[in-house]
Amino acid sequence: MLPFARRMRKPVMPNREGAALTCVNVALGTRSYVIEIGTDTLRRGLPAHVTNAASRIVVVTNDVVFPLYGAAVATALEASERPIVSVVLPDGEAHKDWQHLNQIFDALLSNACDRKTLLVALGGGVIGDMVGFAAATYQRGVSFVQIPTTLLSQVDSSVGGKTGINHPLGKNMVGAFYQPKHVLIDTDVLRTLPDREYRAGLAEVIKYGIALDAAFFAWLETNIDALSARDSATLAYAIRRSCEIKAGIVANDEYETRGARALLNFGHTFGHAIETELGYGTWLHGEAVGCGMALATNFSAILGRLPEADRQRVLQLIQRAGLTTAMPAVAVERMLLHMARDKKNESGAIRLILLDGIGQCHVDGTVDRAAIATFLAQQ
Ligand code: NAD
Ligand code: GLY
Repeated sequence: MLPFARRMRKPVMPNREGAALTCVNVALGTRSYVIEIGTDTLRRGLPAHVTNAASRIVVVTNDVVFPLYGAAVATALEASERPIVSVVLPDGEAHKDWQHLNQIFDALLSNACDRKTLLVALGGGVIGDMVGFAAATYQRGVSFVQIPTTLLSQVDSSVGGKTGINHPLGKNMVGAFYQPKHVLIDTDVLRTLPDREYRAGLAEVIKYGIALDAAFFAWLETNIDALSARDSATLAYAIRRSCEIKAGIVANDEYETRGARALLNFGHTFGHAIETELGYGTWLHGEAVGCGMALATNFSAILGRLPEADRQRVLQLIQRAGLTTAMPAVAVERMLLHMARDKKNESGAIRLILLDGIGQCHVDGTVDRAAIATFLAQQ
């Protein structure tokens, strides 16, 4: 197991009304923050130390999440005694673009928001990424908080400060590294998440086990049925462990310059290509990542790096989570075109995350395009 994937200490502390709450720290010096994980945390709201510095609070959400949780969050934020503004964007990956980012700026400017404004991202990864980017750039940077409401955003996108929007030619191609001040995870909100979205979130949970933590992978093999059934104790552990692993990596390699953070992209080179080619929102991000992980696993085995028994275990876990391992009908040259634009690439070489075993992987920029093309043509 890699040093940064080691089990971290798990402080459990009383929350604002005395109930148990798990906290995971993202250790980034003066930009460190806490991920609070618990039940009923939405109603309890944000800690005072986060809201005290704010002149006003702007909650950005979408038209699916707002009717479900907008009122609860607004009520909880009343304790801050700050003016509260809500901005409701249309739902969906297809709207993670300049036009809708600009709607956030329009609302901030028309409400005369100053540099002490606190933005709150209430929603899944689409809202979280867009609000983070708006916070990074509005008046050269204002504070923001993540309140992730999908499984995917609770275990991945709300943590680590990758923010941005899509471009028609590539996924997440415009953005910034910008850390939130706080992450508030309420596991209760997952009860309203549609099954398809929940399974897509499981892809990112499984990713941590496959790529970085063999013990977590084995735990997932044992518990995948309970996790799929949304058993609350199993879910709470899966979210906490995922956040711990991600927090450890981000603390080690915040800007993805030291090799560690790129490993979190396992499955994403193939996955982003599928997502972009099919059109944003056709396959969910997590579905594309699930398939991309299967492709990266098969390719690692073909290159002689991964034992057959490990390949079988990985594919079985992805399938047991209800995710497809079969590539959609996409022309090889289209896949290669998108993969050639991946942000990990250097000097024109496609860089893939390949497995050496369960829980062990590396960034590989040595595989030539012809070998990738031959592999894809066989899928
Ligand atoms: P999403 O934000 O589109 O949310 C999925 C759907 O669930 C949406 O329709 C949303 O409105 C709905 N929803 C959200 N919470 C709900 C709830 N509690 N109950 C019912 N419905 C709810 O998608 P996602 O899977 O959360 O995030 C995917 C995005 O995250 C992609 O754009 C991807 O690029 C990004 N991402 C970013 C990072 C990062 O590090 N920044 C990591 C992984 C993924
Ligand atoms: N989701 C990959 C990362 O945050 O680096």
